[in-house]
Amino acid sequence: MSLWSPSSWREKPILQQPTYPDKAVLDHVLAELKNYPPLVFAGEARTLKAQLGDVANGNAFLLQGGDCAESFSEFHADNIRDTFKAMMQMAVVMTYSGGLPVVKVGRMAGQFAKPRSSDTETFDGVELASYRGDIINGTEFTAEARIPDPQRMIKAYNQSSATLNLLRAFASGGLADLHQVHQWTLDFAHQSVVSKKYEKMAEEIEKSLRFMEACGVTSKNYRTLRETDFYTSHEALLLPYEEAFTRKDSITGDWYDTSAHMLWIGDRTRQLDGAHVEYLKGVKNPIGVKAGPTMDPQDLVKLCNALNPKNEAGRLNVIVRMGAGKVGDGMPALIKAIEKEGLKVVWSCDPMHGNTIKSSNNYKTRPVDSILMEMKEFFQIHKAEGTHAGGVHLEMTGKNVTECIGGSFTVTEENLSSRYHTHCDPRLNADQSLELAFLIADSLKEARK
Ligand code: PEP
Ligand code: CO
Repeated sequence: MSLWSPSSWREKPILQQPTYPDKAVLDHVLAELKNYPPLVFAGEARTLKAQLGDVANGNAFLLQGGDCAESFSEFHADNIRDTFKAMMQMAVVMTYSGGLPVVKVGRMAGQFAKPRSSDTETFDGVELASYRGDIINGTEFTAEARIPDPQRMIKAYNQSSATLNLLRAFASGGLADLHQVHQWTLDFAHQSVVSKKYEKMAEEIEKSLRFMEACGVTSKNYRTLRETDFYTSHEALLLPYEEAFTRKDSITGDWYDTSAHMLWIGDRTRQLDGAHVEYLKGVKNPIGVKAGPTMDPQDLVKLCNALNPKNEAGRLNVIVRMGAGKVGDGMPALIKAIEKEGLKVVWSCDPMHGNTIKSSNNYKTRPVDSILMEMKEFFQIHKAEGTHAGGVHLEMTGKNVTECIGGSFTVTEENLSSRYHTHCDPRLNADQSLELAFLIADSLKEARK
């Protein structure tokens, strides 16, 4: 058996990587990144792993959400704040109505690299290399923009660092205080049906807080009322970048990928003998693996054994993304195979990637109804199998975008164009995300019956 090292993935077959034109520039950038400070501490990744252990055992729920692809052009404090607020709103709904603590993980501060279904894109008869995320090349449809540029890794690191800095400030500097429950409502959403439902719940929470305050339980003396833990995650796709942030923890001597607390492997790069699985085998962060309709139950068992050989609860998150109407075809066999082997995993549902369609006016979109339906099916099947529906994995934003169709504020095919800003896949806006949070809260209540 060959030994693992931060670079042993280089010996394995690899998919979805850019070809950099100038190797000297690439090596120079990677050498520089190796000297940059880590973005997260190993101890934080261990704390998250312990919290995900609670999720695996049915005592907490995982909310993972953020952009499909972060971008250099949309980098703004307001965007980060609004996604943070939208996630806080969702989490409080799930905790208050659903009755479980929520582990919050952003697809933020590093979610820049995108796997693509095709290496090239054709537009008006012109064929160019596909856009692979701002950490690799540019979205503009020109030959020059599509050339992979290693310097983009430095920019992505700096943006991740600033984003994480702001997230940490929000999490512990007052914005996450439960007394802010009304302030988390995004300006544009004030009038919607779900927003009104939220306001009503927020009033009840405030009443409870006043009661608790009278009993001496306040934000001043209880950290959990005034702060939250907010973690970061991204797809570990661009392995040279991840390798540069792979550092040995001085306390345990273990390797950690310090570019984020949690990393996941996409549905297109989860080959058992491939480079991405090899890389994530050796880092101790909590990790995820996407499971789409082509996931074979026995392959999933092999992946679990490879990625979580000690069978630790909280190490491995299986992120199921079958598509509405198809969860019943694919997921029961996966659950049965995992249960038969006694493997411990967090099951979460990505109701986004199996529900992408083209609108008649040529926008990549997702019907909110399909997203809600896949989520419901996910809960129903776990209930039937006697396993825990552990979490949700979303592409969402706190902004008032029009990228997914439907929802209580009804986005239609016709108005998709008015605020369609995503750099890759369509995201739920804050209102649509909140609607999903209420559905999850009801499902969590139902699951406990
Ligand atoms: C993603 O999460 O952005 C993604 C590409 O998902 P998947 O690997 O499940 O297709
Ligand atoms: Co996506």
